[in-house]
Amino acid sequence: METTPAIFQIAIDGPSGSGKSTMARRLAAALGIGYLDTGAMYRALGFAALRRGIRPSDPTDVEIMLQDVELDVSFADGCQQTLIDGEDVSPFIRTPDVSMAASDISALPAVRGFCVDKQRRIGETNAMVLDGRDIGTYVLPDADLKFFLTAGDDVRAGRRYLDLVKAGVSVDMNDVLHDLRVRDRQDSTRELAPTLAASDAILIDTSELSEDQVFDLMLRHCAARGLTRG
Ligand code: DC
Repeated sequence: METTPAIFQIAIDGPSGSGKSTMARRLAAALGIGYLDTGAMYRALGFAALRRGIRPSDPTDVEIMLQDVELDVSFADGCQQTLIDGEDVSPFIRTPDVSMAASDISALPAVRGFCVDKQRRIGETNAMVLDGRDIGTYVLPDADLKFFLTAGDDVRAGRRYLDLVKAGVSVDMNDVLHDLRVRDRQDSTRELAPTLAASDAILIDTSELSEDQVFDLMLRHCAARGLTRG
């Protein structure tokens, strides 16, 4: 039986609605380690751009914004707060407009450098689960365990739709499916660090599995690698 290292990283990548954030949160709680939602950082910058009237896909204006915007992440009771210039913007970053802004802004090289530096600094010094698109391939290629979650478009859009309805956002299911496909295409075809499974990632298609089934499977993989609650 391997002993659990004091600091270890688990990478969970995959497209929107694949279940990665739910699983990251549950795994982190089960293992008693931190959870970093890297998408929230791109969302916060997308939100900051929209609030300043900047087009999130405009490299020049966004680079100027990066020179004086402060992006921070803090944790209270295991819950992530994502701060722009000291303000917790977490309540504002889950809308469809901000989702698209996050996808647009995350394709810009300056933005990726800005966020990846912070993610590495947090991830490399703490025991953590990180979820995103490029954690296993680019942010932490030496992560101790890597998962890549997928699910069919319809299933993922259905989950996203329910999340939004539960959050009180009024949306049309067809719009959610359309936006998800546009975002998938953008995120997986961009030049820099696109959504991609690392060659050593464990692939899990969550389309036909319940939340508990996916979680149990992932937890078993952690235990098999000697990653258990310390
Ligand atoms: O995981 P999410 O839906 O909250 O991510 C929002 C956007 O941020 C997503 O469309 C792509 C981008 N993103 C990224 O490029 N790299 C990451 N590690 C996480 C998210």
